[in-house]
Amino acid sequence: MKKPEILLDKDFVISKTDERLFGSFIEHLGRAVYGGIYEPGHPAADEKGFRADVINLVKELNVPIVRYPGGNFVSGYNWEDGVGPKELRPRKLELAWRTIETNQVGTDDFVDWCRKAGTEPMLAVNLGTRGPDEARNLVEYCNHKSGSFYSDMRIKNGYKDPHGIKVWCLGNEMDGPWQIGGKTAEEYGRIATETAKVMKWVDPSIELVACGSSGSGMATFPHWETTVLEHTYDYVDYISLHTYYGNRDDDTPNYLARTLDMDSFIKRVVAACDYVKAKKRGKKNINLSFDEWNVWYHSNEQDRKMEPWTIAPPQLEDIYNFEDAVLVGLMLITLLKNSDRVKIACLAQLVNVIAPIMTENGGAAWRQTIFYPFMHASNYGRGIVLNPVIKSEKYDSKDFTDVPYLDAAVILSEDGNELTIFAVNRSMDDSMQVDCELRCFPGFVLKEALTLANDDKKAVNDKSNPDRVVPVKLEQIEHKDSKITVRLPKMSWNVIRLGLDKNK
Ligand code: AHR
Repeated sequence: MKKPEILLDKDFVISKTDERLFGSFIEHLGRAVYGGIYEPGHPAADEKGFRADVINLVKELNVPIVRYPGGNFVSGYNWEDGVGPKELRPRKLELAWRTIETNQVGTDDFVDWCRKAGTEPMLAVNLGTRGPDEARNLVEYCNHKSGSFYSDMRIKNGYKDPHGIKVWCLGNEMDGPWQIGGKTAEEYGRIATETAKVMKWVDPSIELVACGSSGSGMATFPHWETTVLEHTYDYVDYISLHTYYGNRDDDTPNYLARTLDMDSFIKRVVAACDYVKAKKRGKKNINLSFDEWNVWYHSNEQDRKMEPWTIAPPQLEDIYNFEDAVLVGLMLITLLKNSDRVKIACLAQLVNVIAPIMTENGGAAWRQTIFYPFMHASNYGRGIVLNPVIKSEKYDSKDFTDVPYLDAAVILSEDGNELTIFAVNRSMDDSMQVDCELRCFPGFVLKEALTLANDDKKAVNDKSNPDRVVPVKLEQIEHKDSKITVRLPKMSWNVIRLGLDKNK
């Protein structure tokens, strides 16, 4: 049996987490909006058509910020189509996903939904077919108090108070040839700068995210980042990263090693940001917004057969299995370990489209396997991220060398009273006995320990059996003096929560 060790010290601090690390994303795509968050006539729908059962699951995930309305969709979107009386809103051909967009949900409606779901909107502006003018008008519509054309339009539409949108994305994946109005780094750098400038002139309190590469495999990465930031450095606060993984060749050890790629992607983007800062003799750091990350591959084949020009077809409906949940757990660990520079991250997406939450039209909502690691990290992963010293055996896989069998992130709550260890055992064959040295944490006792494990790595939850893969209590924990010893099942996601016992 493998016997890795973890040493914790409360002075080994990576960073305090920004709660927006646990954000998500809703795009006008497939059944994310229509039939997902919005389904008038559904038994659980409220007076505005929002499904309360979906909102309850979003609340379980404790999502602090949701990016909207795209994604690829935003690059052809006219925001004006989605505000005002619903009966006057146009139906349009949506070119990114080849559907019909009814515009029955738009900016104001989404803000309403966010308020009900207890989350903040993060809006993207269209830099594909549009530019600075429409973007500054949208900021005026959302954030200006009153007494101007667009702020008064919002008031006329029933929203007296400004929406107060803080974080804005300057377009989406503008480096991608698939993007409506895709651009070279120079072209995008220029339009992003001019757009950022006028958006901040309308509301200087907003924060802006420039588009980074749509993936580390793009031929233009990381030259794209340095060129874009050389233009935009003075005006933007973050640069975006996007990553999706899949296990297409059914090589699980290699699949579970993919977070080494994610980690190196983050570090290379940080290097690009710091290079531009140095070149400009700048003072501020550009931080990272990892605003699309997840597993995405199960639905690719099905989507290729999709009939175009229908309303809200089931697109990108990946049904996630157990090994996907373990990878999502590893991705969360990677984000936490890089939380000194990754300040925003969005699990892409939230409902029905590559999502932790699924709905049946007219029927129930249910939790996918990936729901659980995200829920654990979002609820227990906020605070001070510590840098654990991990001694673990390693393996080599098809694309990676020195992959540690054990990966872990450790979070101390801000009040110093709770310590959470997220740990993944990557081994497909063996459970492992982990010794964790807690000498800096006298008086801490075990509060709860959970594991997500399964003998069938391809086990899924689905509408007929939504609770096949769920977390259970982690047994076999010993706590003696300053050492806690835990037996992690083979290939598993684990959460160990300790708390200060005030009587000790
Ligand atoms: O999340 C699905 C799609 O993935 C988004 O629309 C796009 O930005 C990315 O390529």
